[in-house]
Amino acid sequence: MNKIAVFTSGGDSPGMNACIRAVARAGIYRKIQVMGIRRGYEGMIDGEFIPLDSSSVSNIIQRGGTILKSARSKRFMTSGGRGQAADHLMQHGIEGVIAIGGDGTFRGAKEFSGECGIPFVGIPGTIDNDLFGTDFTIGYDTAINTVVRAIDQIRDTANSHDRLFFIEVMGRDAGFIALRSGIGSGAECVLVPETRTDIDQVIATLEQGWGRKKSSSIIVVAEGDDAGGAFEIAKMVNQKFSQYDTRVTILGHVQRGGSPTAMDRVLASELGVAAVDALLAGKRNIMIGKLHREISGTSFEKATKHHMDINANLLRLVEILSV
Ligand code: F6P
Repeated sequence: MNKIAVFTSGGDSPGMNACIRAVARAGIYRKIQVMGIRRGYEGMIDGEFIPLDSSSVSNIIQRGGTILKSARSKRFMTSGGRGQAADHLMQHGIEGVIAIGGDGTFRGAKEFSGECGIPFVGIPGTIDNDLFGTDFTIGYDTAINTVVRAIDQIRDTANSHDRLFFIEVMGRDAGFIALRSGIGSGAECVLVPETRTDIDQVIATLEQGWGRKKSSSIIVVAEGDDAGGAFEIAKMVNQKFSQYDTRVTILGHVQRGGSPTAMDRVLASELGVAAVDALLAGKRNIMIGKLHREISGTSFEKATKHHMDINANLLRLVEILSV
């Protein structure tokens, strides 16, 4: 294998640039050519290929976002779109592809690789941490640190005004961002899609705090929670427990940006190099992750089929520490 390509796809995440840098420099180190594909599968269909040399990836390890940009591609869902993408890969002599993204990226890669015969290796790049086969995804650590800093600031004004805040965080249908950022910011309740939300239980926790003269409270809500988003849940709580003056904050896309933490930069660097080595070793259609401190390979099918289990001990920690 003498020429490979790398692209970023799906929701961007901090650390993707560190990963692109690692892939490019590992390729140079292994004396193969590396092409970057811009705008994910959309750019693959449109032939937006650029050569990556060492200087192309200088001074990006600390930058959020992705220099290759990302996009969601409806055209790639069609055989015509995938045919155009395959033609461009062939024209550029690409013998292997590294896809940095999430579950949608890997589902597309699995189908496409089977059609065009070009091997793909995936790297988990998403803030959601919702891929099976890796303890952490690239961007997750940065996102939870961003959320904790934001909640620390909200706590200041909640204390000043004796308010109850409902704070909605990203994660799609997973509660990993909510769980660790909730614990890290000392939230009274953390509501995640993986467990059924009991509004009466939430109210009981708030009443307990109220009884202890807790003048303000923080509730973190994962956007995919079964009881709804932060606004819906705040309304349901207020109908039965209206002692607090209540506000809602939706953190939104601030969670997707920012300079990656050292943990994310190191994870991105490890997985980028390991993905190049996996391709050169003839591996295909696997996601490279890190499980229990070891580099691991998981089939795209398994990686996208279900999430890692949410940590029951951490869920219990929220209950214990909210007394
Ligand atoms: O998958 C990453 C993510 O940030 C999710 O947590 C969120 O629900 C979604 O992307 C938002 O997608 P978009 O950037 O297209 O609005």
